Amino acid sequence: MDLGRINEFALEMIFDAGKYIRASFSQELIIETKSDFKDIVTNIDREIEQFFVNKIKMRDPSHKILGEEGMGDNIVTLDGPVWIIDPIDGTMNFVKQHRHFLISIGFYVDGEGKLGYLYDVMRNEIIYAIRGEGAFIDHRRIRKLMPLTIEEAVIGINASWVIPNDKINHEKMIQLIKKVRGTRSYGSAAMEISLVVTGKLDAYLSMRLAPWDVGGGMVIAEEVGAVTSNLKGKPFNLLTHDTFLIANPSIHKILLDQFIELK
Ligand code: IPD
Ligand code: CA
Ligand code: CA
Repeated sequence: MDLGRINEFALEMIFDAGKYIRASFSQELIIETKSDFKDIVTNIDREIEQFFVNKIKMRDPSHKILGEEGMGDNIVTLDGPVWIIDPIDGTMNFVKQHRHFLISIGFYVDGEGKLGYLYDVMRNEIIYAIRGEGAFIDHRRIRKLMPLTIEEAVIGINASWVIPNDKINHEKMIQLIKKVRGTRSYGSAAMEISLVVTGKLDAYLSMRLAPWDVGGGMVIAEEVGAVTSNLKGKPFNLLTHDTFLIANPSIHKILLDQFIELK
């Protein structure tokens, strides 16, 4: 399998999708809710996923697709070549802010991440990785993450986990927030992952993410030395929803051992 050729194909497809999304702001968006009133989707999310599915199937019908909007295949195993796609990660930001949303794509073969893409559509900034060859931001190599202490860390966390909740010990989250240098919350898992792999954040954690939120970012993480896992310290399960942690290697274990206590 020629990963270089597939990478060129993926980059072209992603840049074309970006142009389509930017042009969509001149039309009226159709916004619908999914599982609850906070979970929204637009016609553009669906059109972009369909665009990716058409392109991939036209190039090689044997490739399978796991996409958020369900335009791809019904994936029950990661055997063979599988594309994991979130056409717009941060739909709420897309609708409300017209910025801070990303296209997130991972290409896996037999469960092993080969190519990963995080494309900030409005900034026109692409971060991608080719397994074993490194990670790149706008074609410049991203250097490996530098070690740091927990006191120096800036972490991505949603405010919901600092108030009493049924998923995680919020008292420990308060201790964590007191301990670190700062916290941020961006409303797009793909964006928070893109910030961790480029050293602009030092960790990001979430109580529930889907394969398409992290599939692209996990390949990039591997190439820069960021550590990913679920909040039990086990590998993230790419076939279902799971908890998620990505961190600079020098603080990943400290976060799990000292601050993260699931209920
Ligand atoms: C969502 C965003 C958000 C995260 C949610 C995701 P979507 O993705 O990544 O930051 O907290 O869990 O579902 O729905 O905008 O693709
Ligand atoms: Ca998403
Ligand atoms: Ca999405």
